[in-house]
Amino acid sequence: MIKILVTGANGQLGSAFQRIGTSKDFKFFFFDKNTWDISKKVYPEISGFNYIINCAAYTTVDKAESEQELAFLYNTKALEYLSEFANQNSAKLIHISSDYVYHNALNSPLKESDPCTPQGIYAKSKLDGETIVNKLCKNFNNKNIMGLRHRRP
Ligand SMILES: NC(=O)c1ccc[n+]([C@@H]2O[C@H](COP(=O)([O-])OP(=O)(O)OC[C@H]3O[C@@H](n4cnc5c(N)ncnc54)[C@H](OP(=O)(O)O)[C@@H]3O)[C@@H](O)[C@H]2O)c1
Repeated sequence: MIKILVTGANGQLGSAFQRIGTSKDFKFFFFDKNTWDISKKVYPEISGFNYIINCAAYTTVDKAESEQELAFLYNTKALEYLSEFANQNSAKLIHISSDYVYHNALNSPLKESDPCTPQGIYAKSKLDGETIVNKLCKNFNNKNIMGLRHRRP
């Protein structure tokens, strides 16, 4: 049985995971901001899990310009704590990227290898968070961390 912790469970993506539900092969454990605030170095009392899917983020793009500290706390600093918790438990961290990190004007699908030129606080805080995950996650390779980069509709 694969055990998966999901942060930010009441957001758009987290709710989608809640709809998948548990199967015989895997079991989800869902946490919202009240039960696991990722910006605090306080972790849920749970062990023996295999994955953390980080659906928690500061996502109010425009507001981030006036709430820089909060955006960097949730989207960047918190990734230090999540990486550490994943390492401590030999778990894999799945972190979600954003199309905003590219800020290109190409009218074509993005490739992960496209250059990142983030504009604005939200984009910068997201890219900085990814950099931290890449640097700190012990067993990092391209299979351990899945950057889901897609365009908004
Ligand atoms: N939706 C998109 O189109 C899209 C596109 C590209 C990338 N992404 C990425 O996908 C991921 C999920 O986005 P989403 O659309 O599901 O965002 P969302 O609907 O805004 O959900 C984010 C969730 O994170 C929670 N949260 C915020 N700060 C937290 C903290 N410190 N600790 C724990 N939970 C916290 C929020 O709770 P509160 O509401 O209580 O603050 C909210 O429930 C993000 O990394 C985002 O950058 C999304």
